[in-house]
Amino acid sequence: MCGIVGYIGNQEAYPILIKGLHRLEYRGYDSAGIALINPSGDLNIYKTKGRVSDLEEFCDSKDISATIGIAHTRWATHGEPNNANAHPHYSETENLALIHNGIIENYAVLKEQLMQKGYHFLSNTDTEVLIQLIEYIQTLNHVDVCTALQLALGQVIGAYAIAVMEKGNPDQIIVARKSSPLVLGIGENEFFIASDASPIIEYTNKVIYLEDEEIAIVKRHEQPRIVTIGNVEKTREIIQLELSLSQLEKGGFPHFMLKEIFEQPHTLRDCMRGRVDVTCNNIVLSGILDHRERFLQAKRIIILACGTSWHAGLIGEYLIEEICRIPVEVEYSSEFRYRHPVIYPDDIIIAISQSGETADTLAAIELAKKEGAFVYGICNVVGSSIPRNTHSGSYTHVGPELGVASTKAFTAQLCVLTMMALCIAREKKVLPQSRILELLHELNLIPDKIEQILNANDSIQKLSNIFTYAHNFIYLGRGYNYPVALEGALKLKEISYIHAEGYPAAEMKHGPIALIDNEMPVVVIATDNDMYEKVISNIQEIKARNGRVIAIVSETDTVVKSIADYVIEVPATEDCFEPLLTTIPLQLLSYHIAVNKRRDVDMPRNLAKSVTVE
Ligand code: G6P
Repeated sequence: MCGIVGYIGNQEAYPILIKGLHRLEYRGYDSAGIALINPSGDLNIYKTKGRVSDLEEFCDSKDISATIGIAHTRWATHGEPNNANAHPHYSETENLALIHNGIIENYAVLKEQLMQKGYHFLSNTDTEVLIQLIEYIQTLNHVDVCTALQLALGQVIGAYAIAVMEKGNPDQIIVARKSSPLVLGIGENEFFIASDASPIIEYTNKVIYLEDEEIAIVKRHEQPRIVTIGNVEKTREIIQLELSLSQLEKGGFPHFMLKEIFEQPHTLRDCMRGRVDVTCNNIVLSGILDHRERFLQAKRIIILACGTSWHAGLIGEYLIEEICRIPVEVEYSSEFRYRHPVIYPDDIIIAISQSGETADTLAAIELAKKEGAFVYGICNVVGSSIPRNTHSGSYTHVGPELGVASTKAFTAQLCVLTMMALCIAREKKVLPQSRILELLHELNLIPDKIEQILNANDSIQKLSNIFTYAHNFIYLGRGYNYPVALEGALKLKEISYIHAEGYPAAEMKHGPIALIDNEMPVVVIATDNDMYEKVISNIQEIKARNGRVIAIVSETDTVVKSIADYVIEVPATEDCFEPLLTTIPLQLLSYHIAVNKRRDVDMPRNLAKSVTVE
């Protein structure tokens, strides 16, 4: 989703801004642009549809001398991806330039009013309305740009992270945020602005996170001043980030996605570090233990999430209900927030989000908090909005995930949910201690077992060649592996653009079975667990209709191996930990099919990594 970068300092701004845009490419975008104030005070905007590299080409012959600038990657919401709709946008007189991430919901009414006052619009965006409004207020009231911005933001409904520059003022960038992320980087006599820390980290690890409805006036040689839209002065703590530059690079892998798939043994160990201690037979999740009573008294848990995180939530439901005996509901955040849900004060909400910025999940959290529920966040991005707006939580600690299709964040979300379930079960005394320890020891072995599965990468690549040209796929699983089937199908469609459906295997005969013929690949998770015999019957039903079965099986399996067309083996584990293993071959299969089809694996079309609009 839209990416924002800004710089003011002693260095040339252009290379810093371009590099910053490249660092934000992973978020997903369709056009890019830059605004620079040159030493004579001219405010120049250059923008183009396409990639950041297209913008660089476009800027080749342009005046790019400046030590102040703002830049943007746009993920289209209002108006198609084209040059005119790309950011930055000028105001009517071309005195102001603005970049924006978010949506101005009442833009149509404001636009109409401004057009009646003689303002002209060059784009179809909601963003252009905001910059025109700021200039209109500035001219009407004879106020400075900051005051005009405050007054304008008081009139807009919606979400925004914005940065504004003014012609003839090469010493100031003004930024503001509401419900869209924005980070300020504090260097030595230089300041950085970005949607997240990735463009900033190579210059400084000192950052300030703005809160909703806050404005920062970032001036050359001065510490940023922070005020609210209502003009109340604020002080914000400077935070030291632990992010390292190497975490933002591919480390010899052709794609971030493959790197992230291969990182999983390591990221799961990081996720468990300091929490699972097999030598002392202990599990510590401070986010739970600090609020032990709330968890002991909880009558119900509601899990809220979107996309892949929602799939993790479904597995969390199975885990928590089985291990803790607490009823769990799993909801899409976007549905929950608008369907007038019944929320009790003794409900616990678990909000799962890799980015910690998903707009629907944030809004659903606010709703639940208003009703008095306790909200626990499971997030990856440290310092993002969800961890800052929840009562407690656990980070997944997998480092930056840059492939748009989530892989290592998903398995770490499962790991956190598992640790939560074990920790709650122990405190509630609903599971014998000996069983908890058995599970704990098995969880500790999962990273090694994933390493074993990753060794099959070459054979999965070979298998992918057979199915690269399929037009449809069905994924089936039961029990814990039903959400894995959903996730496998999502991964394939996200990055290969092949249509894929995930289904509970038994439901197949209520519809999808009509699709099965000798051209339909069906991926079935058929590991040796409680559901094994049932899944075998489902495979028979597919084979009876000439479907082509790719089965994920246990190493010891003989039956499925004799019926399926192709098999991929995974080591044995507890039923409830199977998703941590069965997911891995499905990630690899999707990856290789997408590579065979020459797709842009890390930045699939139309998708965004961090969905900051509802
Ligand atoms: C986007 C991403 C998905 C992700 C979903 C939820 O659609 O492309 O990979 O699962 O958002 O994001 P979150 O950051 O809340 O987990």
